[in-house]
Order: sequence, then C-alpha cells, then structure tokens
Amino acid sequence: MNKAIVLTGITTTGTPHLGNYVGAIRPAIAASKEASLLPFYFLADYHALIKCQEPTRVQQSSFEIAATWLALGLDTDNAVFYRQSDVPEIMELTWILTCVASKGLMNRAHAYKAAVADNEQSGENDPDKGITMGLFSYPILMAADILMFKANKVPVGKDQIQHIEMARDIAARFNHIYGPHFALPEAVIAEHGATLTGLDGRKMSKSYQNTIPLFEPEKKLRKLINKIVTNSLLPGEPKLTEGCTLFSIYQAFASPDEIVQMRENYANGMGWGDMKKILFDYLNNHLAPARERYEVLLQRPEHIEEQLQEGAKKARAVSVPFLQEIRKSVGIHRISS
Ligand code: TRP
Repeated sequence: MNKAIVLTGITTTGTPHLGNYVGAIRPAIAASKEASLLPFYFLADYHALIKCQEPTRVQQSSFEIAATWLALGLDTDNAVFYRQSDVPEIMELTWILTCVASKGLMNRAHAYKAAVADNEQSGENDPDKGITMGLFSYPILMAADILMFKANKVPVGKDQIQHIEMARDIAARFNHIYGPHFALPEAVIAEHGATLTGLDGRKMSKSYQNTIPLFEPEKKLRKLINKIVTNSLLPGEPKLTEGCTLFSIYQAFASPDEIVQMRENYANGMGWGDMKKILFDYLNNHLAPARERYEVLLQRPEHIEEQLQEGAKKARAVSVPFLQEIRKSVGIHRISS
C-alpha cells in the first residue's frame, strides 16, 4: 500500500498548551495510528534558534514537547518522530534549495515583512534592524524539512500556509532545473472549530501569554481556570455559549451529548463558579492519565532520548540516500561515482 506522507514540525520554544493540543497535537496523534498514513513529526529545534536565543529554553522545550507527544500515546511504530537537528541532511538540503530560491520570494514572506513593518512604524531608519538571516530565510529551512521526506500533506496553522506555498515554488523551480526529484506538498488546515480561546478571551496563544499549559499540575490547573475572564452575569441569569471561553474549552473535550446538556445549563442560568468547577473536573479527569505518564517520562530523559534516536534512524534511512540523489542531480559527487 502506498501511504500518504503527512509531515509537520513543532518549533521548540515553549511548553505545549491546551490550544496546541486541541488544534495540532490531538489530530496528529490520531493520525499516527492510521495505517493509511505515514506521518513524520519532528521537533524543529533549528527553527527555534530563529526566535529564541536562550539555550536552556530551547533544550527544555524539546524535552517537554517530546515527553508530551509520547505521553499522549503517539504511535512511534507507525509515525517517524525525530529531532530536526539529528538529521543533518536537512541542513545540507537547505543550502542546495537556498541556491534556487529567489530572494524576491523571501522578501514577500509574512514574518519578514511584519518585522520590517515594525521597524518602519517605530521610526527606525534601517528597515532590517534586528532581522537575522535566519528569520529571512526561514521558509527555505522549512521547505527542506518538507521536501526531504516528499511530504504530500502538511498540517499547519493558517499563518504557515504561505510557507507551504513557498516550499512548492522552490520545489517546482528545482524540478524545472534539475529534473523531477521533489514532490509538491499541500497545506492541510485545521478546521475553524479547533481554535481555543485563552484566559483573557483572545485566541489561546503563547504570544498573548494567555495559555493553559497542557500538563499543568492539578492545583495550578484549578487556579488558571478560576482566572478565566467571564462577563458579570449572575447565577440564575441565562448565559450565551458563543464567545464564552469556558464553553469553548469544554466543547473541545466533551462529547456531543455533554455539549447539548451544557448549552441547556447555560440557558438555565448556571453560575460561572459552578461552570469553572465543572470545567476543572472535566479537564483534570481527561488529562490526568497522560499527565501521569508525562511526569514519569520527565524522570526518564534517557527513554525520551532513545525514542528520538530511533526516530532519527528511521528518518535518516530516507534522508541519506535522497540527499545523495539530490547532490548528484546538481553535480556534486565523487569523480569516480
Ligand atoms: N514553522 C512552523 C511553525 O512555526 C514549524 C515548522 C518547521 C514546520 N518546519 C516545518 C511545520 C515543516 C510544518 C512543516 O509552526
């Protein structure tokens, strides 16, 4: 059977939160168990260096993210789970792709344009102030991640669609010059329903500092849920589920029947205090088994490392011969071969 290749990377700069879980991790773990798919999931630690120059944070985040995915039951027999930096062929491919990617294409990347716009707005006379070549050429590293494994489908957030299009562009350009070596990837966007709101009512996101970490210990989880902002309606007054953060989180975990019941509770005027208690119990019960496995894993870093090395081995079984093919196609190989 020809399995569809699904690939996605997780930048290692933070601790996974409920929004990451619902939007990306949960569907990816489900996909890891599907026999018709061959998923490649990796810790994008070279991407982390673009945003974060704190070595301990990059290291800690890689460790936490790996433990999180393993604790949640990622099927590592089917999926290839690895650290980008353990597959050095990706960096070599990045350079080869850099030599076919046009600079004009990179000039149009959103992340770069946003950084330039910030400089211009703050009255800075150098529009490139503080912008590294890493940020500028970030889409090429991402293209190498994707093209190395001939990924067909790339699940990403909306902000990453442009990068997938750039990967297609770069692949097509390479294929045009050197022959059809690369597959053209497609972005797969999580449906709208999968976005969670955070503590302050905006989208749950690390950049807004309004997140609930996925494996927060019980006491802290309770505290955070109690901090979620609500309106000032009193118990007994009917409440709307739309735009309610508590409901948005509940809905992402509960069954359809439970959701119907909860809508009724809202209409019947359940108090915010009660809702917070229900949400806490629900989440806590749901997450406790994986949280326990997570805590055990954090005590066994050598086990996590072993899993990542296994993954790197599987990834390199693909990347080593493929890079050889690519090098040869551009005219880089030993004289005798
Ligand atoms: N840049 C992506 C993000 O910030 C992470 C990433 C790196 C990625 N390489 C990738 C995602 C390749 C998909 C495919 O979310």
